[in-house]
Amino acid sequence: MPAHDFPPLVAGNWKMNGTLASLDEARALMKKLQGANPRCDVMLCPPFTLIHPMAGVLGDSTIALGGQDCHWERSGAHTGDIAAEMLADLGCTAVIVGHSERRTDHGETDEIVKRKAAAAHRAGLVSIVCIGETIDERKAGKTLDVLSRQIAGSLPEGANAANTVIAYEPVWAIGTGLTPTTDEVAEAHAHIRKELAARVGGEEEAARVRIQYGGSVKPNNAHELMSVPNVDGALVGGASLKAADFFGIIEAYL
Ligand code: PGA
Repeated sequence: MPAHDFPPLVAGNWKMNGTLASLDEARALMKKLQGANPRCDVMLCPPFTLIHPMAGVLGDSTIALGGQDCHWERSGAHTGDIAAEMLADLGCTAVIVGHSERRTDHGETDEIVKRKAAAAHRAGLVSIVCIGETIDERKAGKTLDVLSRQIAGSLPEGANAANTVIAYEPVWAIGTGLTPTTDEVAEAHAHIRKELAARVGGEEEAARVRIQYGGSVKPNNAHELMSVPNVDGALVGGASLKAADFFGIIEAYL
């Protein structure tokens, strides 16, 4: 399969933001995308409470729907958790796993992330597997080692370019307005691509895996960041909450 079968993916992670009134932003985004034909896939990942109503709003638009987390079991006694199958049932085609906020707030380890990614694949969802170093790890020169360890630990058997997206998100860049230099992004993404080969069955497959950059992506830096080699889209937090800002990022692919 040639690379263009997996176009870049710009996904908006709304995190714990939004009520029914926020669906107006999804409507506004649909309007902006009409006839725009960006050279990327576009996805919104609202909180669980908005997935069903947002599916109704999006209808058969080109905007895909994703969850922000899932449990690794299909069902059972797990109060407050959501199964990957439940996300698929509502029309989600993907789910974010291992976001640094889940790793920090909920103590998620690489092993847990791997089980969640496997659950996503079992349910027919694409897993968006988040990895990234802390500021202390970067300062200690350990960034590439951390990425290697997270890739080795977080990707399940059977991961491939069709069912897995990697989101490289330096923890210190998330929600801070700070971003790595383009050289730092290029170095991390090239390293991730190289490490993926052993996990997805070879270099050819690894070349097709989408590797998103995430962490303070905004309309004013999106073009520069999306132009870095091996950057195949963005995972966007804060700037995905408003249609105008999110579309300003998607414009990097117009
Ligand atoms: P941010 O979040 O764009 O608000 O920095 C990115 C993310 O956590 O995915």
